[in-house]
Amino acid sequence: MSEDIIVVGAGGFGRETLDVIAAINAAAPAPVWNVLGVVDDGLSPIHGERLAARGIPHLGGIEELRARFPSCRYVVGIGSPSVRGRLSAMIDSWGGRAATLVHPAAVIGTQVTIGEGAVLCGGAQISTNVELGRHVHVNPGAIVGHDCRLEDHVSVNPGAIISGDVRIESGTLIGAGAVILQLLVVGGGALVAASACVTKDVPRGATVRGVPAR
Ligand SMILES: CC(C)(COP(=O)(O)OP(=O)(O)OC[C@H]1O[C@@H](n2cnc3c(N)ncnc32)[C@H](O)[C@@H]1OP(=O)(O)O)[C@@H](O)C(=O)NCCC(=O)NCCS
Repeated sequence: MSEDIIVVGAGGFGRETLDVIAAINAAAPAPVWNVLGVVDDGLSPIHGERLAARGIPHLGGIEELRARFPSCRYVVGIGSPSVRGRLSAMIDSWGGRAATLVHPAAVIGTQVTIGEGAVLCGGAQISTNVELGRHVHVNPGAIVGHDCRLEDHVSVNPGAIISGDVRIESGTLIGAGAVILQLLVVGGGALVAASACVTKDVPRGATVRGVPAR
């Protein structure tokens, strides 16, 4: 029997998360998830139209999860690590239960652990002996190398490459197409710009860009 799920966030990644759910359902012998709809506190008209066009209801603001759907699974489909961290902590404090979503076209190696609330998109590749924390997002075409540790709420944007034995601390965003060389540590809350090549450890909270990244 399928389980009810609500996606938090109607923006781009929220609707990509709906695609991940649809792909999981399509690949299973019977649907795994029953999407009740999307909650979003600040639904823009364009996002509202895009949701409506695919027949997904907007259920109201995030508070609706607590008020009307306390036992429903949730997933935060919002790309910003800090926003995702704040909202998932709030929903968890209400007793929320996060769903973990792995697209059937994601490639997952051996000895991989995936935290609750994580979303792995189609075309993501996760190597062997990798730990992904809670609410980690790995976008299409991103590669996470062997023996990596990605802490809670990390976002790996499309096409980024994280080499082996890297630690990415919580709340960090790795921009599209960035490359992180092996054995490095990217500090918590850092932002690695799109297309950067990181050759040294990145301090907590820093923004680095360019090749080599500074
Ligand atoms: C680095 C980043 C955070 C900068 O954002 P910002 O502070 O709003 O910066 P701005 O767009 O105002 O640009 C500031 C300067 O940085 C430069 N810059 C912006 N992004 C850059 C990048 N990825 N690499 C190198 N330089 C960059 C701009 O050209 C500009 O240079 P200038 O001052 O000489 O004109 C952002 O551009 C980025 O790369 N974010 C990652 C986003 C991503 O992965 N998007 C894909 C989503 S799926």
